[in-house]
Amino acid sequence: MWKGRFQQETAPAVQRFTESVSFDWRLYKFDIEGSIAHAAALQKAGLLTPEEHQQIESGLRAIEREIDEGKFLFRPELEDVHMNIESALTARIGPAGAKLHTARSRNDQVALDLRLYLRHEADEIRRLIVGLQRALVDSAGKYRTTVIPGYTHLQRAQPVPVAHHFLAYVEMLQRDTERFADAARRINRLPLGSGAIAGSTIALDREYVAKLLDFPEVTRNSMDAVSDRDFVAEMLFALALTGVHLSRLSEDLILFASSEFKLIRVSDAYSTGSSLMPQKKNPDVCELTRGKTGRLLGNLVSLLTTLKGLPMTYNRDMQEDKEAVFDSIDQVKMALEVYTGMIPEIEVDAARARAAAEDPALLATDLADYLVLQGLPFRQAHEVIGKLVAYTLEQQRTLRELTIDEFRKFSDRFGPDTFEVLDLDRAISRRTTIGAPSLENVAAELERWKSILG
Ligand code: ARG
Repeated sequence: MWKGRFQQETAPAVQRFTESVSFDWRLYKFDIEGSIAHAAALQKAGLLTPEEHQQIESGLRAIEREIDEGKFLFRPELEDVHMNIESALTARIGPAGAKLHTARSRNDQVALDLRLYLRHEADEIRRLIVGLQRALVDSAGKYRTTVIPGYTHLQRAQPVPVAHHFLAYVEMLQRDTERFADAARRINRLPLGSGAIAGSTIALDREYVAKLLDFPEVTRNSMDAVSDRDFVAEMLFALALTGVHLSRLSEDLILFASSEFKLIRVSDAYSTGSSLMPQKKNPDVCELTRGKTGRLLGNLVSLLTTLKGLPMTYNRDMQEDKEAVFDSIDQVKMALEVYTGMIPEIEVDAARARAAAEDPALLATDLADYLVLQGLPFRQAHEVIGKLVAYTLEQQRTLRELTIDEFRKFSDRFGPDTFEVLDLDRAISRRTTIGAPSLENVAAELERWKSILG
């Protein structure tokens, strides 16, 4: 492609080192879509005849079909997907093909391809997240009255319906979809026409190209447009955070499935065995999801590190953006698909969950609230209940096993209704603040999510 200036062939090791077609070939559909729109602008500017434009378009469509069918030979000596397609086009249609790269550089071309690709993937990922949210909402509905201990510091804290726990992840995933939609807004700007750095002396109608490619905006500074990879970093961040959310869910499931907790069972189809220990059933799906999150964070940091020292404008370093973002997209999509299949296969052991949640110590805060409602300042109530809990530990009895006289030794504000406070169902039903998990609230949230998720 640059034979005019060069007298020597590229060294074979340099070819291997600089080529990107082995991974950027997957941009081919977007590259072709962009080239077809570019050709339309060239024709509009009088630089292509309608026949030439037609030849380019049908030539590119034929190449697309060849690639679709696995019949196209990508040549590493042509470096990247852009030059492979352009070269194949010229070989196929002759002189018209040689006009396609007029008023265009690979610098604005690759920026365009990436934006088209990421815009598409952002939509795909949002769709997959919604699928997982639906699975979580369905499971939450199945266990809408099952109560488990909720944990802080991984110590039993307060009882919550399982559905509330599942819906917490639905909320996180909702913010993830919002982040992808927000990133897509900034992705959705046409960089083509920026050329290598300073646009072109051949003026093409960028607004027209934007319309053809369904971009609501065009970029406003050619230097920025060819050197900007913010939009890739934003995608990597959104992917990393989605990964972190899935990783936390994984950790919950791993813990809850362990013999120590034994609150859930995951079906055989979503578990793996041990090659040595016949009794083992391992949560490898969860562990790999947690493990792959390391890669997602690495990919984000990798791109930011690549960008941080780059002078304006395009530098070849930027080719390193692709493998990072391809990998994060592939891994997150796979994890979302596997999780969407696995969530319905999770069974909660409702009896064990209930038994664990029945521990009256989980209602110590409710007892403090009771004293507050009898007029004791909260700090004093907290201390009274703290002493009571210490007393139960010493006695090796639970709060529910104490007599009312024992309660009254700690505060004369305890009345005959004290034991009602220690009733689990009643305790849950009193949590009526917006966002708190009374069964009524949770049922309403389930309905809200069903209508949001359609
Ligand atoms: N393969 C290159 C990349 O991914 C395309 C742009 C190349 N531009 C250049 N001036 N060498 O970044």
